Amino acid sequence: MRRGKRAELAPSIALPLETARLLIREFAANDVDSVHAYSSLPEVTQFLIWGPNTAEQSKQSVRAFLDDQKDKQRTNFDLAIVQKQIRKRGEKRRLIGAVGLKLVDWDNRTAEIGYVLHPEFWGAGYAAEAAHAVMAAAFHDLGLQRIVATCDQRNKASARVLEKLGMRREGAFRRSKYIQDAWRDEYLYAVLAEEFAF
Ligand SMILES: CC(C)(COP(=O)(O)OP(=O)(O)OC[C@H]1O[C@@H](n2cnc3c(N)ncnc32)[C@H](O)[C@@H]1OP(=O)(O)O)[C@@H](O)C(=O)NCCC(=O)NCCS
Repeated sequence: MRRGKRAELAPSIALPLETARLLIREFAANDVDSVHAYSSLPEVTQFLIWGPNTAEQSKQSVRAFLDDQKDKQRTNFDLAIVQKQIRKRGEKRRLIGAVGLKLVDWDNRTAEIGYVLHPEFWGAGYAAEAAHAVMAAAFHDLGLQRIVATCDQRNKASARVLEKLGMRREGAFRRSKYIQDAWRDEYLYAVLAEEFAF
């Protein structure tokens, strides 16, 4: 496998991605309201290091996503999860959440995956479907060796998503992240390219 610093090699993920039910695409400036719809909810951010967002914070986060898109040595891929199916005529496709891939250690071809969904869409397999598509593209298009994820040990839904993605629990950290109001314990999950079920 080719080695090199991120600056010498700037591959990207071919977007949009399409799954059975979803489109995974770049964020656009007019996605702010959809992003705020989930980022502002305490039940969504209870296990996250950010939020619940004010309208201004949601605006800033979309601005940061757009800045990342212009980065020639892009390391952050925050992508919109959009439901493909339209139930009624005239209805718009809905942006239901986000999936993020961060190249945390390019020299070692390692990225971190994360996801967040509007609660209206929890429990239908969307997070696993979106993350799987991004991980498959990342292993393939970026030539990654390893994808990791961390989650608050209380976040049972997220841990289950990571297990459904074929990730292995490799560690349990004690009081490693300040989440909302306290230092929390986390799990570390990982999967290698050679193990991933494409
Ligand atoms: C975590 C999150 C993205 C999961 O999204 P989702 O689309 O509901 O996930 P999926 O439907 O793909 O899978 C969820 C799994 O967790 C299980 N689950 C949900 N709540 C659970 C709980 N309290 N205890 C045990 N399992 C639980 C579901 O049954 C499902 O497993 P199954 O398919 O085997 O039945 C969503 O809950 C969310 O947006 N949470 C807020 C943001 C967040 O915490 N992100 C993760 C940061 S690490």
